[in-house]
Amino acid sequence: MSKSKWPFLPSRMMYIERAQGVYLYTKQGQTIIDAAGGAIVANIGHGRQRVADAVAKATKDYSYVVPPWLTPSREAMLEVLHDHWLPNYLTRVHCTSGGTESNEAAMKIALHYQQAIGQEKRTKIIGRSISYHGTTLATAAISGHPIRKRGLENALPIFPEVDTPYPLRCSLGSHHENAGAYYADLLRDTIESEGPETIAGFLAEPITGSSGGAIVPPQDYWPLVRNICDEYGIVLILDEVMTGFGRTGKPFGYQHWPIEPDIVVSGKGLAGGYAPLGGVFAREEIGAAMEKAGYQVMFNTFGAHPAACAAAAEVLNIIIEENLVEQAQQRGQYLQDQLTNTLADHPHVAEIRGSGLLRAIEIVQDRESLERFPVEASISAKIVAKGLAMGVFFYGGGTGDVRDIICMGPAFIIDENQLDEIVSTLAQSIDDVIDGL
Ligand SMILES: Cc1ncc(COP(=O)(O)O)c(C=O)c1O
Repeated sequence: MSKSKWPFLPSRMMYIERAQGVYLYTKQGQTIIDAAGGAIVANIGHGRQRVADAVAKATKDYSYVVPPWLTPSREAMLEVLHDHWLPNYLTRVHCTSGGTESNEAAMKIALHYQQAIGQEKRTKIIGRSISYHGTTLATAAISGHPIRKRGLENALPIFPEVDTPYPLRCSLGSHHENAGAYYADLLRDTIESEGPETIAGFLAEPITGSSGGAIVPPQDYWPLVRNICDEYGIVLILDEVMTGFGRTGKPFGYQHWPIEPDIVVSGKGLAGGYAPLGGVFAREEIGAAMEKAGYQVMFNTFGAHPAACAAAAEVLNIIIEENLVEQAQQRGQYLQDQLTNTLADHPHVAEIRGSGLLRAIEIVQDRESLERFPVEASISAKIVAKGLAMGVFFYGGGTGDVRDIICMGPAFIIDENQLDEIVSTLAQSIDDVIDGL
């Protein structure tokens, strides 16, 4: 081992020498099922030769080319995006090297657009109370994620914030029939109190990812929010970094509802973990207005990296050829059913939820009152550690306030036997951790 201190601050560490399909192989000889797809990234699984070959070819043929220029790999990615993934109205594409940069770029594009159409006072973007959008000052600030802002609270810019729908814990009552309208009204109230003429955009995840633990909003929430954004001239930016490219059983998470966002942000699954890549997809009108005003979308040096675009083109084609979005929906339902059979009556499991292969369970001290375990009990960290020791990697979720969440986001190629193993390991890990408190 070198003298480097890695990671920067001490944390649980594994040494993975090889990965194939849904399996990780450690240096010490352990085989682990990757129930988290890394950080909910590895949508087609590990070790696809075809993707590696495409990356190698791009690297050999034209290692680096400035982002605005075309290369065969960029052209191939744009072709599959437009032919199979993006709705026709999202014509403008900007690529970065990940989710954070893409959210930052999307927020700037929304701000630029409002300036370009003469809405100079529109300088604010509303975020939500349970959310994660990235690591930079602005994306961390707009995130509803206290634990990731700790120590920075006094330095971060302030963004207006509205409650994230959380049907289990809705103030009207758990899974109340008016919850969708209730949460949409909170957005309207925030817009009115901030001053509608000052709001440029609203940034949210269509299905809340690991910060909330695969929280699906009430059915009427997104159509209501879309109407509110239209009424007030607000750009609707949907962060699909985790939910995009098939993860929730539809090409994009927002497609579970009859809505059209103005800007879609992606990352993670875009290149399936084979290379770092993020994407921002915007309405034609937004790009056209910025163009007319003479504004720029400055590139990141490594945005749209040729090798990353080559990976994305292959990964997105593989998902189409192998019908993996449909498979994510079916295997996700199987996972939900098995989790329900095994854990629905567990005295400490409050909810099993999600969509497609983005699933989570929420653990509580008391199922009736939904009271959580104290922070110091570190429930999810202990369950993740237990799961790893038993050969399954789960993804711990939550924001600090929201906690004791275990997320699952395996590759879409996972089979039913492997899902059964994930469920039995989770059940055993929960019992071991709670019995040991
Ligand atoms: C919903 C969401 N947005 C943004 C990000 C940040 O993306 P990245 O880590 O690629 O910068 C993440 C990462 O987990 C995410 O889940």
